[in-house]
Amino acid sequence: MQHSPEQLREKQMAGEEAIKYIENGMVIGIGTGTTAVYMIQALAQRLREGLTIVGAVPTSEATAQLASKLGIPLTDLDAHPQLDLAIDGADEIDGQLRLIKGGGGALLREKIVAAASRRFIIIADTSKLVSQLGHAFPVPVETIPFARTPAHLQLQALGAHVQLRQRDGQVFHTDSGNIILDCFFPGGIRDPQALHINMKSIVGVVEIGLFLGMTERAIIGSANGVQVLVNRP
Ligand code: 5RP
Repeated sequence: MQHSPEQLREKQMAGEEAIKYIENGMVIGIGTGTTAVYMIQALAQRLREGLTIVGAVPTSEATAQLASKLGIPLTDLDAHPQLDLAIDGADEIDGQLRLIKGGGGALLREKIVAAASRRFIIIADTSKLVSQLGHAFPVPVETIPFARTPAHLQLQALGAHVQLRQRDGQVFHTDSGNIILDCFFPGGIRDPQALHINMKSIVGVVEIGLFLGMTERAIIGSANGVQVLVNRP
């Protein structure tokens, strides 16, 4: 996807602001995507300046590669099943800080890391803020390849326009070897909670790119500076 210079600036602002929430001695989760790249670069800089963390759990192979290239100490959920803080991007964010994630295909590990973390902070540019989820982005549904067609049909029965994710003309496989069925809801998603429950009950579906009730705050880069949206249940 092409990003304008303004959008990239907003992503960078959000990524750099989020680093302020990381304290010495923390174990953190680090997300995936273009905004997360800015955050990871800013983290590497802070570590060079003296911040010390116990380790970072990457949410994808791409993030693991970048982080280790930049000298960020990596760890995993076996060594640290509970994280202090996870920071990640999002594809859509609504007024209750409910999210669509998984545009980069990392939703399964992203959700595992978010669920393992005491605090979950989202970083994004203003284009990600929406009044209702689903208008612009599909909900990615990570599925076992063997269940591709039955899952596709059951997702269709839930009202989704379903598209098997491809990359460079080939079926896209996640870091866990699964496929992604992108579910489009052109009229938006009326009840994200009900949709999540219904999608999760499909046998062969591993995880859904709807992140509900997980986000503590969203840090949004904008032309007028950084906005912080806090979840107040
Ligand atoms: C990857 C994700 C990303 O966090 C999401 O797609 C946002 O990406 P970007 O920061 O590049 O806009 O969920 O699976």
